[in-house]
Amino acid sequence: STGLEDWQSEVLLLTDSTNEQLKGAGFCHKKVLAAEYQSAGRGRRGRQWVSPLASNLYWSVGWQTQMPVQQLGGLSLVVGLAIIKALQSLDIEGVQLKWPNDIRYQGKKLGGILIELSGDVAGALQVVIGVGLNMQMGSTLAQSIEQEWMNVNDLAPDVSRQQVLAKTIVEFNQALELFEQKGFAAFQELWQEVDECFGQKVSILQQHQELKGIGAGVDDTGALLLQTGQGVIPIYAGEVSLRFR
Ligand code: BTN
Repeated sequence: STGLEDWQSEVLLLTDSTNEQLKGAGFCHKKVLAAEYQSAGRGRRGRQWVSPLASNLYWSVGWQTQMPVQQLGGLSLVVGLAIIKALQSLDIEGVQLKWPNDIRYQGKKLGGILIELSGDVAGALQVVIGVGLNMQMGSTLAQSIEQEWMNVNDLAPDVSRQQVLAKTIVEFNQALELFEQKGFAAFQELWQEVDECFGQKVSILQQHQELKGIGAGVDDTGALLLQTGQGVIPIYAGEVSLRFR
């Protein structure tokens, strides 16, 4: 059994944002909503997510959980790890994660994760997990992207969007169940293997304050550990931005 018997999926030709569509009244637990095109795709910290037609993968997953909101800090890391596993199952190796939510290869961005709270029902939180993964975006369409980026098809030309999406959902299903049972602690070791920040000089921008240090892994809640002159400081995801120095 794949464990996917109670999942649903829908592919829209166009939408504003799959996260937006799945939030609120459209929320559905264990639903995958993908789109060929997003007119208002969004990234973290209010940024736009460039979403050209039929080029990449844009999808959102609805997930309802009893976990307390304070424990959800590790969720974007868990989702990133599930995507790496899916790519590995298609023989795509060497993909790394830049805490807390960037999927990268040799310093170039392959994709990103945007998690939003949709609401709560009788104490259960409804979470929308959005993922954008560059598959075969043409360079002329993407001149507005500030960061260096690349496509999954640059690494594996024959892998299709359908394959990546299907494998990812299998991994999401497993990872989300384990996360719910054991918390982020069950993923901490796995994170070490793909942690792009480990041992690197990084700077964290938090409420207009810059904090410099060296990446020292994550704790058992998924907080980034920053080795500084004042010792090791945990950094919680929220509205921070991390840069390599
Ligand atoms: C980031 O790296 O800033 C996160 C990008 C997340 C993009 C995806 S595409 C599908 C889903 N719908 C959106 O509007 N955003 C996410």
